[in-house]
Amino acid sequence: MYSDLIEKYKKIQPSQNAVRILTERYFIKTPAGEFIEKSWHDVAHRVARVVASAELINNPALENLSKSEKLDYIKLLEKEFFDLLASRIFIPNSPTLFNSGMGVDYELLYKPLEQMELDDYSKIIQMRNHLHMLSACFVVPVEDSIDGIFTAVKEYALITKAGGGIGSNFSSLRPNGSFVAGTHGKASGPISFMHVFNSAVSVVEQGYRRRGALMGILNIDHPDIMDFISAKKGNDGEKVLRFFNISVGIPMRREELLRIYERDGTIRLNHSKWHGEKEIKVREIIQKMAQSAWETGDPGMVFLGEMNRYYALYPHKEIISTNPCGEIGLGAYEACNLGSIDLAKLYTQNGVDWDALEKATRIAVRFLDNVIDVNVFPIDKISKAVKESRRLGLGIMGFADLLYKMDIPYDSEEARRLAKNIMAFMALHSHEESSKLGEEKGNFPLFEQSRYHTEDDFVPFSMDESDYDEEIFEHFRNVAPKFKRNVAVLAIAPTGSISNIADTSSGLEPNFLLAYVRYVNKQNSDEREPLFYVNEVLKQKLPEDLINSIKDKLVEDGTLKHLEIDEEIKRVFVVSHDIKPIDHLLMQEAFQCYVDNNISKTINLPNSATVDDVVEVYIEALKHKIRGLTIYRDGSLQTQVLTSTKSLKT
Ligand code: CDP
Repeated sequence: MYSDLIEKYKKIQPSQNAVRILTERYFIKTPAGEFIEKSWHDVAHRVARVVASAELINNPALENLSKSEKLDYIKLLEKEFFDLLASRIFIPNSPTLFNSGMGVDYELLYKPLEQMELDDYSKIIQMRNHLHMLSACFVVPVEDSIDGIFTAVKEYALITKAGGGIGSNFSSLRPNGSFVAGTHGKASGPISFMHVFNSAVSVVEQGYRRRGALMGILNIDHPDIMDFISAKKGNDGEKVLRFFNISVGIPMRREELLRIYERDGTIRLNHSKWHGEKEIKVREIIQKMAQSAWETGDPGMVFLGEMNRYYALYPHKEIISTNPCGEIGLGAYEACNLGSIDLAKLYTQNGVDWDALEKATRIAVRFLDNVIDVNVFPIDKISKAVKESRRLGLGIMGFADLLYKMDIPYDSEEARRLAKNIMAFMALHSHEESSKLGEEKGNFPLFEQSRYHTEDDFVPFSMDESDYDEEIFEHFRNVAPKFKRNVAVLAIAPTGSISNIADTSSGLEPNFLLAYVRYVNKQNSDEREPLFYVNEVLKQKLPEDLINSIKDKLVEDGTLKHLEIDEEIKRVFVVSHDIKPIDHLLMQEAFQCYVDNNISKTINLPNSATVDDVVEVYIEALKHKIRGLTIYRDGSLQTQVLTSTKSLKT
């Protein structure tokens, strides 16, 4: 039951690792450096209160209530948010944790709930300052002029400072060597300008709490595409375009690119300010991408055509880029806030507690929708774009740990069936909740132009086979054409930090290692220090003396693969490197079929994989219903965040 799980997990203290991360980056301090927050519950109080206060801005139904009824309503909601956050069953993205309450008197943020007055909530709304920025994902357009480029550089600086990650599609920029009328000179091209963006972000840390994160995209038909593919060559994780992930944008549908590849066809390079003529074989492009990704992990691929295919506002609006980790595709000046439910905590002896998952999903949607209204964006154009479509990114974490608890191997049909059912269930209830909010508080302003309203049977994801398909179709046929508060609702983020706070596995990823050393940046310095970790579920499933006897080898290898223990246990406790690339892809597809935004997933390859193996993964990717691809060959980049002691030694 939901309330039992909430009570259980509210009492469980975050691990030493989690507390360490919270203390370093999340707990609020006075300007003199004195900690105001000392526990996760303090953070949960602050965030729940601020997000509940949004009801004063966005809930027209509140107008009909008396003052005391309004107050009771908001307090109840604050309690509901607090319980969910305090249990760590749901955690919003880091900027919401960092910045909720920025500018507000401490006294208002931590006052006991019983003493809260309506005026206190109003004051919270009024006192938020320019750093009250709660979203993780942004896309900034870059115009093909010096003015346009440097306007975007400034916008990058402002968003980074506020704590957001930014993506841009640089295809608008004329290619290297093309004519510049104003100076009678030659353009230096998108790649050289990306270095300017990289430098700007390198001197502006995200609110002094972490380094910035960027995504640079160039479409496959841009004349500079071949140089772009190797733009991070020589990258050791620190030097070359260090803040950027780079990806090749695929504006056409996935199947179309596959067809060109299969018939050994070409792409005609194209830019309005370019007078050259050139066609390149798709096979040549793919080969170069594979070579480069084999060496450095970059570039990835983003299937923009696929994203627009399922975008409720397309073609009225267009997705041009994704955020840095790829889970959200956005149009110009759009932003999105994320939050993730820890599936592992929803496990009971009977399997997944579906009622609890429904309740958590519904509260989380309401929470994320409120975040939009208490957000303060550094640029007005962003504020406007966000409020027009009210995009949310609710996802999951802890999937690998859930599978461990259920004795299901990640690379199995059973795991994929579970993934589809979980995601379809969340898709159903999150979309129902978004429609309920639409009826209660108003649809998103562009709703009438959206395909929810204008098309019969529009569903914003591809669907597959799950236990909830009928209900999903029914929802989009009968309810969504009338009510929808959010243009899109779901996304699966990497949850790089929040999964550590939740003491769970990240996103939909398998565990990287069963025992490992995690290096964490010390505050205000580039120095890193090690934190040791052994998977909690493994600790529960194996006797302590057995764990102790294998610990050294486990820390060295990260996997059970080479240990002499029960084969059944080994089969269940697989880690990333034990899983074949195709099984990674199939899991990405299983989730993506029920997600309206995208998914952040890395397809891991062993160190011994060849460039041809990478090509093979690309071609497989084009055959599956996914929206992007990131591959990583173990050991190809030296500064991995997670690393086994073995890879440290090499
Ligand atoms: O766990 P947390 O909420 O901190 O973030 P995540 O799920 O690992 O990343 C979600 C998004 O946050 C990324 O796709 C980026 O858009 C943004 N991000 C960032 O701006 N800077 C970072 N250092 C990490 C993530």
